[in-house]
Amino acid sequence: MFRSSRTPQPGVFLQMDAAKAAARASGLRVIDLSIGASDLPPPPEALQALRESIDDPGTYGYCLKSGTLPFLESAARWYARRYGLELDPKREALSLIGSQEGLAHLLMAVADPGAVLLMPEVAYPVYFGAAKVAGLEIFPIPLGPDRLPVLSAIPAETAARAKVLLLNYPNNPTSAVAGEGFWLEALAFAKRHELLLVHDNPYLDQVYAGKAVSPLALPGGRERVVELFSLSKSFHLAGFRLGFALGNAEALASLEALKGPIDFNQYLGIQRMGIACLELPEERLRQETLVWKARAGAMADALEAIGWHFERPRACMYLWDRLPAGLAMDDLEFCQRLVAETGVALNPGRSFGPGGVGHVRFALVQPEPVLREAAGLIGEFIRRHARD
Ligand SMILES: Cc1ncc(COP(=O)(O)O)c(C=O)c1O
Repeated sequence: MFRSSRTPQPGVFLQMDAAKAAARASGLRVIDLSIGASDLPPPPEALQALRESIDDPGTYGYCLKSGTLPFLESAARWYARRYGLELDPKREALSLIGSQEGLAHLLMAVADPGAVLLMPEVAYPVYFGAAKVAGLEIFPIPLGPDRLPVLSAIPAETAARAKVLLLNYPNNPTSAVAGEGFWLEALAFAKRHELLLVHDNPYLDQVYAGKAVSPLALPGGRERVVELFSLSKSFHLAGFRLGFALGNAEALASLEALKGPIDFNQYLGIQRMGIACLELPEERLRQETLVWKARAGAMADALEAIGWHFERPRACMYLWDRLPAGLAMDDLEFCQRLVAETGVALNPGRSFGPGGVGHVRFALVQPEPVLREAAGLIGEFIRRHARD
Protein backbone atom coordinates (compact mmCIF):
# COMPACT_ATOMS: atom_id res chain seq x y z
CA MET A 1 0.00 0.00 0.00
CA PHE A 2 2.75 2.44 0.95
CA ARG A 3 4.75 1.95 -2.18
CA SER A 4 4.66 3.84 -5.45
CA SER A 5 5.18 2.51 -8.95
CA ARG A 6 8.51 4.40 -8.98
CA THR A 7 9.91 2.71 -5.84
CA PRO A 8 12.83 0.49 -6.91
CA GLN A 9 12.93 -3.18 -5.88
CA PRO A 10 15.64 -4.07 -3.36
CA GLY A 11 18.69 -5.14 -5.40
CA VAL A 12 21.20 -7.97 -5.31
CA PHE A 13 23.37 -5.85 -2.96
CA LEU A 14 20.92 -6.59 -0.13
CA GLN A 15 21.06 -10.32 -0.85
CA MET A 16 24.84 -10.20 -0.74
CA ASP A 17 24.74 -8.13 2.44
CA ALA A 18 22.62 -10.84 4.10
CA ALA A 19 25.02 -13.55 2.80
CA LYS A 20 28.01 -11.66 4.28
CA ALA A 21 26.24 -11.22 7.64
CA ALA A 22 25.41 -14.96 7.73
CA ALA A 23 29.04 -15.84 6.95
CA ARG A 24 30.24 -13.61 9.79
CA ALA A 25 27.66 -15.10 12.17
CA SER A 26 28.96 -18.59 11.30
CA GLY A 27 32.41 -17.51 12.51
CA LEU A 28 34.11 -16.90 9.14
CA ARG A 29 36.45 -13.95 8.57
CA VAL A 30 34.86 -12.10 5.67
CA ILE A 31 37.25 -10.74 3.00
CA ASP A 32 34.96 -8.16 1.49
CA LEU A 33 35.77 -7.50 -2.16
CA SER A 34 32.13 -6.82 -2.99
CA ILE A 35 31.84 -3.06 -2.52
CA GLY A 36 33.91 -0.37 -4.21
CA ALA A 37 34.60 1.60 -1.01
CA SER A 38 38.28 2.56 -1.05
CA ASP A 39 40.37 1.36 1.90
CA LEU A 40 43.03 4.08 1.36
CA PRO A 41 43.09 7.06 3.78
CA PRO A 42 41.76 10.52 2.82
CA PRO A 43 44.39 13.27 2.39
CA PRO A 44 45.44 14.69 5.81
CA GLU A 45 44.84 18.19 4.37
CA ALA A 46 41.14 17.32 3.95
CA LEU A 47 40.80 16.00 7.50
CA GLN A 48 42.52 19.14 8.82
CA ALA A 49 40.08 21.34 6.87
CA LEU A 50 37.17 19.52 8.51
CA ARG A 51 38.69 19.85 12.01
CA GLU A 52 39.07 23.61 11.51
CA SER A 53 35.52 23.90 10.15
CA ILE A 54 34.04 22.22 13.21
CA ASP A 55 35.53 25.02 15.31
CA ASP A 56 34.12 27.67 12.97
CA PRO A 57 30.51 28.60 13.80
CA GLY A 58 30.29 30.19 10.33
CA THR A 59 29.90 26.66 8.95
CA TYR A 60 26.93 25.61 11.08
CA GLY A 61 23.98 27.01 9.14
CA TYR A 62 22.11 26.08 5.99
CA CYS A 63 24.31 26.42 2.93
CA LEU A 64 22.58 28.11 -0.01
CA LYS A 65 24.05 28.27 -3.53
CA SER A 66 26.12 31.37 -2.76
CA GLY A 67 27.70 29.49 0.16
CA THR A 68 28.88 26.79 -2.24
CA LEU A 69 30.73 29.28 -4.50
CA PRO A 70 34.21 28.80 -2.98
CA PHE A 71 33.89 25.05 -3.64
CA LEU A 72 32.52 25.62 -7.17
CA GLU A 73 35.30 28.10 -7.95
CA SER A 74 37.83 25.56 -6.76
CA ALA A 75 36.17 22.87 -8.94
CA ALA A 76 36.27 25.17 -12.00
CA ARG A 77 39.97 25.98 -11.36
CA TRP A 78 40.72 22.28 -10.99
CA TYR A 79 38.95 21.50 -14.29
CA ALA A 80 40.74 24.31 -16.13
CA ARG A 81 44.10 23.00 -14.86
CA ARG A 82 43.25 19.43 -15.86
CA TYR A 83 41.46 19.95 -19.17
CA GLY A 84 42.18 23.52 -20.23
CA LEU A 85 38.53 24.66 -20.32
CA GLU A 86 37.49 27.68 -18.24
CA LEU A 87 33.94 27.29 -16.91
CA ASP A 88 31.73 29.82 -15.15
CA PRO A 89 31.41 28.49 -11.58
CA LYS A 90 28.09 30.31 -11.10
CA ARG A 91 26.34 28.81 -14.17
CA GLU A 92 28.35 25.82 -15.26
CA ALA A 93 29.01 24.16 -11.89
CA LEU A 94 26.84 22.79 -9.10
CA SER A 95 27.76 21.13 -5.82
CA LEU A 96 26.35 17.66 -5.14
CA ILE A 97 25.87 15.42 -2.12
CA GLY A 98 27.87 12.77 -3.96
CA SER A 99 27.55 12.07 -7.66
CA GLN A 100 24.89 9.42 -6.97
CA GLU A 101 22.55 12.07 -5.58
CA GLY A 102 23.37 14.34 -8.50
CA LEU A 103 22.65 11.70 -11.12
CA ALA A 104 19.28 10.64 -9.70
CA HIS A 105 18.11 14.22 -9.46
CA LEU A 106 19.56 15.21 -12.84
CA LEU A 107 17.54 12.52 -14.61
CA MET A 108 14.37 13.83 -12.96
CA ALA A 109 15.32 17.41 -13.77
CA VAL A 110 15.95 17.00 -17.50
CA ALA A 111 13.63 14.20 -18.69
CA ASP A 112 9.90 13.63 -18.39
CA PRO A 113 8.57 10.23 -17.23
CA GLY A 114 8.24 7.86 -20.18
CA ALA A 115 11.31 9.21 -22.00
CA VAL A 116 14.06 6.75 -22.91
CA LEU A 117 17.39 6.66 -21.08
CA LEU A 118 20.18 5.21 -23.23
CA MET A 119 22.84 3.46 -21.16
CA PRO A 120 25.15 0.45 -21.50
CA GLU A 121 23.69 -2.98 -20.71
CA VAL A 122 26.35 -3.35 -17.98
CA ALA A 123 26.37 -0.36 -15.62
CA TYR A 124 26.65 0.89 -12.06
CA PRO A 125 23.55 -0.58 -10.35
CA VAL A 126 22.35 2.76 -9.04
CA TYR A 127 21.55 3.87 -12.62
CA PHE A 128 18.76 1.29 -12.85
CA GLY A 129 17.15 2.56 -9.63
CA ALA A 130 17.64 6.20 -10.61
CA ALA A 131 15.91 5.56 -13.96
CA LYS A 132 13.00 3.91 -12.18
CA VAL A 133 12.62 6.79 -9.73
CA ALA A 134 12.60 9.24 -12.65
CA GLY A 135 10.05 7.09 -14.53
CA LEU A 136 12.42 6.58 -17.49
CA GLU A 137 12.47 3.60 -19.80
CA ILE A 138 15.98 2.14 -20.10
CA PHE A 139 17.38 1.06 -23.45
CA PRO A 140 20.38 -1.16 -22.60
CA ILE A 141 23.07 -0.59 -25.24
CA PRO A 142 25.02 -3.80 -26.03
CA LEU A 143 28.77 -3.79 -25.39
CA GLY A 144 31.34 -4.50 -28.09
CA PRO A 145 34.51 -6.58 -27.62
CA ASP A 146 36.29 -3.50 -26.23
CA ARG A 147 33.57 -3.32 -23.53
CA LEU A 148 32.34 0.00 -24.93
CA PRO A 149 28.68 0.45 -25.93
CA VAL A 150 27.89 -0.01 -29.62
CA LEU A 151 25.96 3.17 -30.39
CA SER A 152 25.05 1.96 -33.88
CA ALA A 153 22.96 -0.79 -32.22
CA ILE A 154 20.45 1.80 -30.94
CA PRO A 155 17.37 1.78 -33.22
CA ALA A 156 16.60 5.22 -34.67
CA GLU A 157 13.03 5.20 -33.27
CA THR A 158 14.41 4.50 -29.77
CA ALA A 159 16.95 7.30 -30.08
CA ALA A 160 14.12 9.61 -31.17
CA ARG A 161 12.31 8.95 -27.85
CA ALA A 162 15.48 9.33 -25.79
CA LYS A 163 16.50 12.36 -23.77
CA VAL A 164 19.73 11.29 -22.11
CA LEU A 165 22.76 9.19 -23.04
CA LEU A 166 24.38 8.09 -19.77
CA LEU A 167 27.98 6.88 -19.85
CA ASN A 168 30.78 6.19 -17.36
CA TYR A 169 34.43 5.76 -18.46
CA PRO A 170 36.70 4.64 -16.80
CA ASN A 171 33.93 2.20 -16.04
CA ASN A 172 32.48 0.46 -13.05
CA PRO A 173 32.31 -2.56 -13.24
CA THR A 174 34.18 -3.41 -16.48
CA SER A 175 37.21 -1.09 -15.95
CA ALA A 176 36.95 -0.16 -19.66
CA VAL A 177 38.48 3.16 -20.72
CA ALA A 178 37.07 5.24 -23.59
CA GLY A 179 39.43 7.12 -25.88
CA GLU A 180 38.82 10.42 -27.65
CA GLY A 181 37.51 8.66 -30.78
CA PHE A 182 34.69 7.02 -28.83
CA TRP A 183 33.79 10.27 -27.11
CA LEU A 184 33.66 12.20 -30.39
CA GLU A 185 31.31 9.51 -31.71
CA ALA A 186 29.16 9.75 -28.57
CA LEU A 187 29.02 13.56 -28.86
CA ALA A 188 28.03 13.37 -32.54
CA PHE A 189 25.34 10.81 -31.66
CA ALA A 190 24.01 13.02 -28.85
CA LYS A 191 23.94 16.02 -31.17
CA ARG A 192 22.17 14.10 -33.95
CA HIS A 193 19.44 12.94 -31.57
CA GLU A 194 19.32 16.10 -29.41
CA LEU A 195 20.35 14.25 -26.25
CA LEU A 196 22.03 15.41 -23.08
CA LEU A 197 25.23 13.40 -22.66
CA VAL A 198 25.64 12.71 -18.96
CA HIS A 199 29.10 11.46 -18.07
CA ASP A 200 29.45 10.00 -14.59
CA ASN A 201 33.19 10.33 -14.07
CA PRO A 202 34.30 9.30 -10.57
CA TYR A 203 37.29 7.18 -11.72
CA LEU A 204 39.21 9.72 -13.81
CA ASP A 205 42.20 9.53 -11.45
CA GLN A 206 42.41 5.75 -11.74
CA VAL A 207 43.72 5.44 -15.31
CA TYR A 208 46.95 3.45 -14.94
CA ALA A 209 48.78 5.16 -17.82
CA GLY A 210 47.85 8.37 -19.64
CA LYS A 211 44.86 10.57 -18.91
CA ALA A 212 41.09 10.01 -18.88
CA VAL A 213 39.29 11.91 -21.63
CA SER A 214 36.66 14.40 -20.48
CA PRO A 215 33.94 14.83 -23.15
CA LEU A 216 33.01 18.23 -21.72
CA ALA A 217 36.35 19.61 -22.92
CA LEU A 218 35.93 18.28 -26.48
CA PRO A 219 34.47 20.48 -29.25
CA GLY A 220 30.72 20.90 -28.67
CA GLY A 221 30.96 19.44 -25.15
CA ARG A 222 29.78 22.53 -23.36
CA GLU A 223 26.51 22.56 -25.34
CA ARG A 224 25.66 18.93 -24.68
CA VAL A 225 27.49 17.45 -21.70
CA VAL A 226 27.01 17.38 -17.95
CA GLU A 227 29.87 15.65 -16.19
CA LEU A 228 29.56 14.38 -12.62
CA PHE A 229 32.68 14.27 -10.47
CA SER A 230 33.07 12.66 -7.07
CA LEU A 231 35.39 13.06 -4.10
CA SER A 232 34.71 9.42 -3.13
CA LYS A 233 37.20 7.56 -5.31
CA SER A 234 40.08 10.00 -5.92
CA PHE A 235 40.22 11.21 -2.33
CA HIS A 236 38.66 8.33 -0.37
CA LEU A 237 35.87 10.48 1.06
CA ALA A 238 32.95 8.20 0.11
CA GLY A 239 31.20 8.52 3.47
CA PHE A 240 31.44 12.30 3.48
CA ARG A 241 29.17 12.50 0.39
CA LEU A 242 30.61 15.21 -1.82
CA GLY A 243 30.69 15.69 -5.58
CA PHE A 244 30.07 18.31 -8.22
CA ALA A 245 28.55 18.65 -11.67
CA LEU A 246 30.15 20.66 -14.47
CA GLY A 247 28.80 21.46 -17.91
CA ASN A 248 25.70 22.56 -19.76
CA ALA A 249 24.30 25.62 -17.97
CA GLU A 250 20.64 24.96 -18.85
CA ALA A 251 20.71 21.37 -17.54
CA LEU A 252 22.49 22.53 -14.37
CA ALA A 253 19.89 25.29 -13.84
CA SER A 254 17.17 22.60 -14.05
CA LEU A 255 19.07 20.41 -11.59
CA GLU A 256 19.51 23.34 -9.20
CA ALA A 257 15.80 24.15 -9.40
CA LEU A 258 14.83 20.52 -8.76
CA LYS A 259 17.15 20.27 -5.77
CA GLY A 260 15.68 23.48 -4.32
CA PRO A 261 12.84 21.76 -2.44
CA ILE A 262 15.03 18.72 -1.61
CA ASP A 263 18.32 19.80 0.03
CA PHE A 264 20.47 22.69 1.20
CA ASN A 265 23.75 21.33 -0.17
CA GLN A 266 26.47 19.48 1.73
CA TYR A 267 27.86 20.79 5.06
CA LEU A 268 30.26 23.67 4.42
CA GLY A 269 33.05 21.95 6.38
CA ILE A 270 32.86 19.00 3.98
CA GLN A 271 32.95 21.38 1.02
CA ARG A 272 36.14 22.82 2.52
CA MET A 273 37.54 19.28 2.61
CA GLY A 274 36.75 19.17 -1.11
CA ILE A 275 38.63 22.43 -1.74
CA ALA A 276 41.67 21.06 0.13
CA CYS A 277 41.56 17.94 -2.09
CA LEU A 278 41.11 19.73 -5.40
CA GLU A 279 44.16 21.87 -4.67
CA LEU A 280 46.51 18.91 -4.08
CA PRO A 281 49.29 18.38 -6.64
CA GLU A 282 48.35 15.77 -9.24
CA GLU A 283 51.53 13.86 -8.45
CA ARG A 284 50.00 12.77 -5.13
CA LEU A 285 47.10 11.14 -6.98
CA ARG A 286 49.50 9.39 -9.38
CA GLN A 287 51.03 7.50 -6.43
CA GLU A 288 47.61 6.10 -5.55
CA THR A 289 46.81 5.15 -9.13
CA LEU A 290 49.90 2.95 -8.95
CA VAL A 291 48.44 1.23 -5.88
CA TRP A 292 45.31 0.24 -7.88
CA LYS A 293 47.43 -0.83 -10.82
CA ALA A 294 49.68 -3.01 -8.62
CA ARG A 295 46.66 -4.58 -6.91
CA ALA A 296 44.95 -5.33 -10.23
CA GLY A 297 48.14 -6.97 -11.52
CA ALA A 298 48.67 -8.97 -8.30
CA MET A 299 45.07 -10.20 -8.25
CA ALA A 300 45.01 -11.09 -11.94
CA ASP A 301 48.30 -13.04 -11.45
CA ALA A 302 46.95 -14.86 -8.40
CA LEU A 303 43.72 -15.77 -10.22
CA GLU A 304 45.66 -16.91 -13.25
CA ALA A 305 47.63 -19.22 -10.96
CA ILE A 306 44.35 -20.96 -10.03
CA GLY A 307 43.35 -21.19 -13.69
CA TRP A 308 40.98 -18.20 -13.92
CA HIS A 309 42.06 -15.86 -16.71
CA PHE A 310 41.04 -12.22 -16.40
CA GLU A 311 41.32 -9.48 -18.94
CA ARG A 312 43.92 -7.11 -17.46
CA PRO A 313 42.38 -3.71 -16.76
CA ARG A 314 43.89 -0.36 -17.78
CA ALA A 315 42.04 1.56 -15.06
CA CYS A 316 39.86 1.46 -11.96
CA MET A 317 39.79 -0.55 -8.77
CA TYR A 318 37.93 -3.56 -10.23
CA LEU A 319 38.47 -6.84 -12.02
CA TRP A 320 35.55 -8.03 -14.16
CA ASP A 321 35.10 -11.18 -16.19
CA ARG A 322 33.04 -14.29 -16.82
CA LEU A 323 32.81 -17.08 -14.25
CA PRO A 324 35.22 -19.89 -14.99
CA ALA A 325 33.79 -22.67 -17.16
CA GLY A 326 32.92 -25.99 -15.53
CA LEU A 327 30.92 -24.70 -12.55
CA ALA A 328 27.26 -25.70 -12.25
CA MET A 329 26.27 -22.35 -10.68
CA ASP A 330 25.15 -18.96 -11.92
CA ASP A 331 26.88 -15.76 -10.79
CA LEU A 332 24.54 -15.11 -7.84
CA GLU A 333 24.78 -18.65 -6.49
CA PHE A 334 28.57 -18.57 -6.99
CA CYS A 335 28.90 -15.40 -4.92
CA GLN A 336 26.49 -16.56 -2.23
CA ARG A 337 28.12 -19.99 -1.81
CA LEU A 338 31.63 -18.54 -2.03
CA VAL A 339 31.04 -16.18 0.88
CA ALA A 340 29.19 -18.85 2.88
CA GLU A 341 32.01 -21.39 2.48
CA THR A 342 35.16 -19.24 2.37
CA GLY A 343 34.25 -15.75 3.62
CA VAL A 344 35.33 -14.15 0.30
CA ALA A 345 32.63 -11.72 -0.84
CA LEU A 346 32.42 -10.73 -4.53
CA ASN A 347 29.73 -9.02 -6.53
CA PRO A 348 27.54 -11.07 -8.88
CA GLY A 349 27.57 -9.65 -12.40
CA ARG A 350 23.78 -9.54 -12.63
CA SER A 351 23.68 -6.65 -10.13
CA PHE A 352 25.18 -4.56 -12.97
CA GLY A 353 22.33 -5.26 -15.37
CA PRO A 354 21.22 -7.81 -17.94
CA GLY A 355 24.62 -7.88 -19.69
CA GLY A 356 26.34 -8.82 -16.41
CA VAL A 357 24.73 -12.23 -15.92
CA GLY A 358 27.42 -14.93 -15.75
CA HIS A 359 30.13 -12.46 -14.67
CA VAL A 360 31.64 -11.41 -11.34
CA ARG A 361 33.30 -8.23 -10.13
CA PHE A 362 36.19 -8.02 -7.69
CA ALA A 363 36.64 -4.69 -5.87
CA LEU A 364 40.36 -4.46 -5.08
CA VAL A 365 39.84 -2.72 -1.76
CA GLN A 366 42.24 -4.81 0.34
CA PRO A 367 46.04 -4.89 0.44
CA GLU A 368 47.85 -7.27 -1.95
CA PRO A 369 48.52 -10.09 0.60
CA VAL A 370 44.79 -10.23 1.43
CA LEU A 371 43.93 -10.32 -2.29
CA ARG A 372 46.32 -13.27 -2.74
CA GLU A 373 44.77 -15.04 0.22
CA ALA A 374 41.30 -14.51 -1.31
CA ALA A 375 42.50 -15.92 -4.65
CA GLY A 376 43.79 -19.03 -2.86
CA LEU A 377 40.43 -19.57 -1.13
CA ILE A 378 38.59 -19.07 -4.44
CA GLY A 379 40.88 -21.64 -6.07
CA GLU A 380 40.01 -24.25 -3.40
CA PHE A 381 36.30 -23.44 -3.78
CA ILE A 382 36.42 -23.85 -7.56
CA ARG A 383 38.31 -27.16 -7.30
CA ARG A 384 35.74 -28.43 -4.79
CA HIS A 385 32.83 -27.54 -7.03
CA ALA A 386 34.19 -28.29 -10.51
CA ARG A 387 31.57 -30.38 -12.29
CA ASP A 388 33.72 -33.43 -12.97
C1 LIG B 1 30.10 4.79 -11.62
C2 LIG B 1 29.86 5.32 -10.25
N1 LIG B 1 29.20 6.48 -10.10
C3 LIG B 1 28.98 7.00 -8.89
C4 LIG B 1 29.41 6.36 -7.74
C5 LIG B 1 29.09 6.96 -6.42
O1 LIG B 1 29.77 8.16 -6.26
P1 LIG B 1 29.43 9.09 -5.04
O2 LIG B 1 30.04 8.47 -3.82
O3 LIG B 1 30.05 10.40 -5.39
O4 LIG B 1 27.93 9.18 -4.95
C6 LIG B 1 30.09 5.15 -7.84
C7 LIG B 1 30.50 4.43 -6.63
O5 LIG B 1 30.88 3.27 -6.64
C8 LIG B 1 30.33 4.63 -9.13
O6 LIG B 1 30.98 3.46 -9.30
